[in-house]
Amino acid sequence: MAFPHPSLYFLFATFLLMQTLGDAATCSDCFTQSRAAYYPNSDEKGTETGECGFGTFGATINGGDVSAASDLYRNGVGCGACYQVRCTDSNHCSDKGVTVVITDHGSSDRTDFILSRRAFGQMAQTTDAAASLLALGVVDIEYRRVPCSYPNKNITFKIDENSNYPYYLAFVIWYQQGKKDVTAVQLCETQNFGCKLLDRTYGAVWTTTSPPSGPLLIRMLFSDDDDENWVVPVNNIPGDWKPGNTYDSGVQVN
Ligand SMILES: *[C@@H]1O[C@H](CO)[C@@H](O)[C@H](O)[C@H]1NC(C)=O
Repeated sequence: MAFPHPSLYFLFATFLLMQTLGDAATCSDCFTQSRAAYYPNSDEKGTETGECGFGTFGATINGGDVSAASDLYRNGVGCGACYQVRCTDSNHCSDKGVTVVITDHGSSDRTDFILSRRAFGQMAQTTDAAASLLALGVVDIEYRRVPCSYPNKNITFKIDENSNYPYYLAFVIWYQQGKKDVTAVQLCETQNFGCKLLDRTYGAVWTTTSPPSGPLLIRMLFSDDDDENWVVPVNNIPGDWKPGNTYDSGVQVN
């Protein structure tokens, strides 16, 4: 017989299909199609009352190129993640688009992102094009997750204003670089090294009632699809921590 048995063609086609599906599933750098709107407030930047609980950081970080996320909020795990977002109309939109930090939760008309007004305009090629985009209100976009970058910054703990020394400790994590999620946080005593797992109360806010006294160490678990690792700060939180204060961890991740 001159030709291979038909079932061989079938096997080969199945093999090709599996390869394609496999590539799609592991394509972490690929863009996903979606839509984006912008905050209706007149402010250029984000909101200080974003659901991540970042406070002013959530409005002004990254020059104000921030966004609310819909499903990508992931019950707060997505807070602080960075995305490259670019609109797809080649008349108005630049190739590069804009890189935003997720600091809030929300959706508009079938959108994955509600960008700050500033970030929305940043997707345009020119200021005129930005005006045209803003006039549209909602645009088609594509996005992908990218590493966050905060040159010359260490991971920093911001003690929430609603903390109540020494009974109730709440904090958020600022300036986390890279592309991983913080999926668990432990609060450890520096003397006995007893640790307790904290709760993510909402957004990026970690809390505990009756924190141990004395200097504290906050360990963070960084995770992605491939692996996870605990990061231990160089610096302690001082025993007399104060609501509203920030404390430099002395470490950074990539
Ligand atoms: C980051 O932490 C290191 C110590 O681990 C310190 O030397 C450096 O000054 C810190 N950087 C900033 C910007 O605070």
